[in-house]
Amino acid sequence: MKKEFKRILVTAALPYANGKIHLGHLAGAYLPADIYVRYQRSMKRDVIFICGSDEHGVPITITADQEKTSPQAVVDRYHSLNKKVFEKFGMSFDNYSRTSLPLHHETASELFFKLYNAGILKEKKEKQLYDEKANMFLPDRYVEGTCPICSNPEARGDQCEKCGTFLNPAELKNPRSKITGETPTVRETTHLYFPLGEYQKKLMEYIAEADKRDGWKENVLQYCRSWFKEGLQDRAVTRDLQWGVKVPLAGFENKVLYVWFDAVLGYISSSKEWAVNNNKSDAWRNYWLDPSTKYVAFIGKDNVVFHCIVFPAMLMAWNENSNEKYVLPENVPANEFLNFEGQKFSKSRGWSIDVDEFLEEFTPDSLRYTLTMNLPEARDADFYWKDFQARNNNELADILGNFVNRTLTFAHKNFDGVVPALGHLNEIDGALLNQLKLVPKTAGDYFERYRFRDGTLEIMNLARYANKYFNDSEPWKTLKANPERCATTINLCLQVARSLAILIEPVMPFAAATLWKILNLPGIPSEVGWLNAETVLLKSGHKLGTPTILFSKIEDTVIQRYIDKLPSAPKSNKQLCEVPSVKPTITFEDFQKIDLRVAKVLAAEKVPKSEKLIKLQISIGSEGRQIVAGIAQHYTPEQLIGKKIVVVANLAPAKLMGQESNGMLLAASDSEGHLTILRTERDISEGSVVK
Ligand code: MF3
Ligand code: ZN
Repeated sequence: MKKEFKRILVTAALPYANGKIHLGHLAGAYLPADIYVRYQRSMKRDVIFICGSDEHGVPITITADQEKTSPQAVVDRYHSLNKKVFEKFGMSFDNYSRTSLPLHHETASELFFKLYNAGILKEKKEKQLYDEKANMFLPDRYVEGTCPICSNPEARGDQCEKCGTFLNPAELKNPRSKITGETPTVRETTHLYFPLGEYQKKLMEYIAEADKRDGWKENVLQYCRSWFKEGLQDRAVTRDLQWGVKVPLAGFENKVLYVWFDAVLGYISSSKEWAVNNNKSDAWRNYWLDPSTKYVAFIGKDNVVFHCIVFPAMLMAWNENSNEKYVLPENVPANEFLNFEGQKFSKSRGWSIDVDEFLEEFTPDSLRYTLTMNLPEARDADFYWKDFQARNNNELADILGNFVNRTLTFAHKNFDGVVPALGHLNEIDGALLNQLKLVPKTAGDYFERYRFRDGTLEIMNLARYANKYFNDSEPWKTLKANPERCATTINLCLQVARSLAILIEPVMPFAAATLWKILNLPGIPSEVGWLNAETVLLKSGHKLGTPTILFSKIEDTVIQRYIDKLPSAPKSNKQLCEVPSVKPTITFEDFQKIDLRVAKVLAAEKVPKSEKLIKLQISIGSEGRQIVAGIAQHYTPEQLIGKKIVVVANLAPAKLMGQESNGMLLAASDSEGHLTILRTERDISEGSVVK
């Protein structure tokens, strides 16, 4: 069902210009989008990457009210701040626009009139919350209250963050005004409505088909299903506000477009701006108005309803009434939320990291890598300072950096800083070349499917593999004993270093560029392209550049300084544990050698004179066994009897404190000494195969 696309259009949610973006935003939408785009560029695909500031909406006017300044002043400040932070972080947008620009207002008005003139928008009188003290209507986030669906007491007037439901302020229980804190009254006002309900069937078909072609994320589909199940409702597209895109109709002088109705169109106006800036003012049409464009919209989970339901419905309405047909998102790979040390990011509660300050002390690539390895792709994930340090030190510095450094240093010391000749290949050389051939494809396949963590793991595993290859080949020994062998080893290590520069570029563009320079290659890695990483292309005799350190280690004292700054003392928090790095990849065949079974504990007793060991009699269906496990400090024998556990059934027998053990039970433990045995989630008969 794969469709062939000529071009790729990538957008990342336009952040509100009313605050600084934090790590959660980066992990939610921006970093995945940037990895995807950089990978596609390296694949030589025609791609544009569009973003900008969302400069309307109630959050901005609230900030302006609080700071006693104008909304324009607020958005000017945060637009330039966020733009700079994105640059520092290495975001490679082709355009970063703003929705307060005239070009955007024109674009939004054009769509509005197209729909209005086609009779799609219906005028309705409605009862709305009104703040008598402040003398104004209270749209959207001017009201907070309790969510009618999940009872979250801090739901916002337009949406509940907790369950994602799209709300009307009037639906909230116990509403309060964000301006005065008063309980609002109800007054009547007139608004224009978009008939979302009429598009439900078409939206369901659209999502089903796009999912069939491009594999949508399960979490995104889940959200959509639940809204469809409830039935889509008509939505007001105007608001009683001054700040926003004006509605130039009689009787609507004091109204603007609903922020979401204009913001999503910011993707189109930003693309138009990109085209104008590049002196090809119609070029945006090739992306937006051509069915051979693949449009991918990266967002965080709180934006799903707007990108999978509202925006596509708006474009469908346009398309039905125009010869110009906009493309709909082919995929909306929304991430869940990233938390911080087990807490929700919250600036006011002090659980926040200023990205700008962060990047003063640490490199963007170590942050990009850590976030990639913790992306909330399928469920919420966390950023921990200790994990950041460990990823940087144990993975980037000790594996990737070390491999590059020892290779380059060796070549400089022993081969005059040039690529030595490739001689006869032995078995382990062949195996390395095999890996080199495989990884660009497997990692690329993951990236195509929006699985950035898995793709990056493949790439890091190539570095792990190469490090091991260096060790096993012992070039420091063959240097004297077998110079041709030594030259071949170093040649191949340099080839892998070159390939790694290409492969790490989407995730770590800065280190990739440095490595490219160290290898004395011209331009940047993506110019030669992703698939080029499969082959050995460094010529022997090529002069290498000067080795520099790719990644420096982060000292304990530095990380501790940041941990000490956290609001309460989370030092005993169990989530702060050191997480060991993932072991080298094994094949499925390797894994299949392990015979895991469900077992029932029939009897258990402590092993005499041992503090740690418990002796268990278990049944694995076909037979009874005795196993010995080191869990006596965590479980009493009584707690184990009758439980269904998981054991390795084909482990070679061993004797522990004189007791025969015929298998091993599975348990998880952390660096703080907590331990839990693994049990089956549902009851299932003993002997069942675990795989
Ligand atoms: N400003 C919104 C947010 O930060 C996202 C807007 S995405 C767009 O949640 F599509 F509307 F632009
Ligand atoms: Zn809710």
